[in-house]
Amino acid sequence: MTYTLTETNAAAVQPDISYHPDEAKYKQRTARRLAENPKLPKSQLPSGFPSNLEGPIVWEGADWTSEEQWVFHLTPAQLQEIDNALADFKALNEHMGYISKDTFPLPTLSAILGSLAAELYSGRGFFVLRTIPVDNYTRSDLAIIYAGISSHVGSARGKQDGTGAVLAHIKDLTLSHAHEKGGIGNAAYTTDKQVFHTDVGDLIALIALATAAEGGVSRISSSGRVYNELAATRPDLIKTLSEPWILDTFGGQPGYTTRPLLYHEDGHIIIQYSRRHFTGYGTQSRSPDIPPITEAQAEALDAVHFLAEKYSLGLNFQKGDIQYINSLGLLHARDAFRDDREHVRHLIRLWLRNDKLAWPTPKPLQPIWQRLYSVSPEEQRFPVEPEIRRKANGATK
Ligand SMILES: [Fe+2]
Repeated sequence: MTYTLTETNAAAVQPDISYHPDEAKYKQRTARRLAENPKLPKSQLPSGFPSNLEGPIVWEGADWTSEEQWVFHLTPAQLQEIDNALADFKALNEHMGYISKDTFPLPTLSAILGSLAAELYSGRGFFVLRTIPVDNYTRSDLAIIYAGISSHVGSARGKQDGTGAVLAHIKDLTLSHAHEKGGIGNAAYTTDKQVFHTDVGDLIALIALATAAEGGVSRISSSGRVYNELAATRPDLIKTLSEPWILDTFGGQPGYTTRPLLYHEDGHIIIQYSRRHFTGYGTQSRSPDIPPITEAQAEALDAVHFLAEKYSLGLNFQKGDIQYINSLGLLHARDAFRDDREHVRHLIRLWLRNDKLAWPTPKPLQPIWQRLYSVSPEEQRFPVEPEIRRKANGATK
């Protein structure tokens, strides 16, 4: 579905909403919209959407009592398997794009990682692997180990940008990359809070090379839990989320794309979006020459954020942890943090997909998924130092 800039759209103004959710403004907007139309909470759910989603991926933070429920501790014998696999892969003298279950063999750990991968797609949707002794390895050996272990969770690696990078460094780059043309338009490269969102792709892996002096808690939340509350109290917002939205491409060509943010596909509830595409972030404000979002959409963005926050689980991310989450079924966020001389938060991200276990990709997302996972082994880059993601033309994104 495409939109044309009609006179009505051109005259419409962007709602008073920014990247950082403002609870007072959210409540005022809700009160205003309900006063204008008190029947909104009584509206019908869009056809095909369930009144209540059930299953292990529907949970709330308070349901979890101990991190031992989701942390898998690597034993010395398993760490030895990882060292052996590193040696095996290096002996092949192959491009790193060829790292796979076959070239990075883990005789006993592989089956365990396979069942943890099943937990991502058919269980609670997350787990943590603890602890990779990250200081024992060079950065490039660590990249092999990280991609190698992860290939037993999800066989396909996604590209992080237009230049074939499959590793993305998540670190405060505001000082080191202050010269970037166009500035930093993504909270991931700052110490700022990152609000609830999902990444593109099926699975997200994050390895912690170092944690911050203070803050930086990683939070996850069940999209199904958020969905159930909205379906019960504000079905009109479910309808809003399931209809096409205008996503800013921030100077890309075309200037915007359109698609829904919420899908019900093969029994799964999927929420897929990043708030900055509707509000802008930092130096990248919402493009003035594209249609604004609506008041209903502004309310829906805040409703999803605040419900996700209410039901979230904070993960105690430690140095050497690898956190795996299902980005189709869980939203995630990160608290603001403070680095100091000894503690400079540094994560490396991979996007993965397990082709055997994967959920069917909703049609409007398929072109993005195809682009993401179409990177050939030779094209894959494994940058060992932080860089800002780039489009194919070199512009930052
Ligand atoms: Fe993210």
